[in-house]
Amino acid sequence: MIKKTILITGGAGFIGSHVVRLFVNKYPDYKIVNLDVLTYAGNLENLKDIEDSSNYIFERGDITDEKLIDELFAKYQFNGIIHLAAESHVDRSIADPNQFIKTNIFGTVNLLNAARKHWSPDFDDKKFYHISTDEVYGSLGDEGIFTEETAYDPRSPYSASKASSDHLVRAYNHTYKLPTVISNCSNNYGPNQFPEKLIPLVIHNIKNNKAIPVYGKGENVRDWLYVIDHARAIDMVFHNGKIGETYNIGGNNEWKNIDLINTLCEIMDRRLNRVNGESAKRITFVKDRAGHDLRYAIDSSKIQQELNWKPSLQFKEGLEKTVDWYLNNEDWLTHVMDGDYEKYYDKQYHKR
Ligand code: NAD
Ligand code: TYD
Repeated sequence: MIKKTILITGGAGFIGSHVVRLFVNKYPDYKIVNLDVLTYAGNLENLKDIEDSSNYIFERGDITDEKLIDELFAKYQFNGIIHLAAESHVDRSIADPNQFIKTNIFGTVNLLNAARKHWSPDFDDKKFYHISTDEVYGSLGDEGIFTEETAYDPRSPYSASKASSDHLVRAYNHTYKLPTVISNCSNNYGPNQFPEKLIPLVIHNIKNNKAIPVYGKGENVRDWLYVIDHARAIDMVFHNGKIGETYNIGGNNEWKNIDLINTLCEIMDRRLNRVNGESAKRITFVKDRAGHDLRYAIDSSKIQQELNWKPSLQFKEGLEKTVDWYLNNEDWLTHVMDGDYEKYYDKQYHKR
């Protein structure tokens, strides 16, 4: 018997695919509906291992399409939503913000409106879970850490669109009592991440003897969390997170970009049987990202204490696993690196 029907948006993307897999495997009595429009970042190959599961359904569609979302709510009678669909890459948002505003803001409002319409007046046993980022809090100097109380200060079109969607989710909770919950997570890494983001891009370029582009001096700091640990946290917040609350999720694992890149170079030298130091020769300092946030750091003590979550993997172990995954999944990389991505890559890096 089906206990719950859950809509996961953006389930063909990097984090979404790990969340879909976790839920499909862990909850055979839930029906999981994955709604994804399959942008350049969405890839059904990420879900090959579970696509035939009887509790899994894929719907191709756009979260900004009002009629479609209304029809899906009527058809499936969702009990919960885990909303991950978004445009997610800062550099693309700098080059062209409009799609970020459309998907991240209008798409979220569209889902909120449908949930309000279809769930009213009885919100019992319903939950609208919005997945967000630590980037909404802005940028830190050498000191400090983001808590759930840190004031929002987004500084890129991406983070501004995510901040806007977070505010709207809170507004629907406050105004209409829609049962919402939000989590804000730091940088994820692991299998299936599109190779425009730092870690898979560096692995790919080292393997193919291409330059490793480091923005500015490589001194920007990010906190890194293994994607499966994020998926575990999402499971806990979805089931046990308190309505109206926000949970920060992070790895307590801050790295300067240049140190992280050097570590990846060492791992790759070992994996590819290259002389130690060979890959690092490819490090190339390029023009800095416009408005580049210096440092993100997350205080995740609330989710650790209240929901008993903690990261399971040490970073070095996670990086080694990640490198191995990309080296063992060449087909996946070849398939996602299609002509459109090559065009984006040329525009982004060869103009420098
Ligand atoms: P991603 O870019 O890999 O995947 C996004 C998915 O959303 C893709 O499958 C894409 O096809 C889909 N999508 C995009 N627009 C859509 C639309 N209009 N309708 C339906 N589907 C659409 O992103 P990700 O890295 O997996 O991030 C997922 C979520 O987590 C995002 O909301 C992001 O802001 C948030 N987040 C990401 C990170 C990170 O480090 N990657 C960290 C914190 C929070
Ligand atoms: P990214 O993976 O794009 O994530 P975010 O901008 O959301 O943190 O970038 C991580 C860090 O790496 C960020 O400080 C920018 C930097 N970076 C580079 O130095 N070179 C690159 O080619 C990319 C994509 C990122």
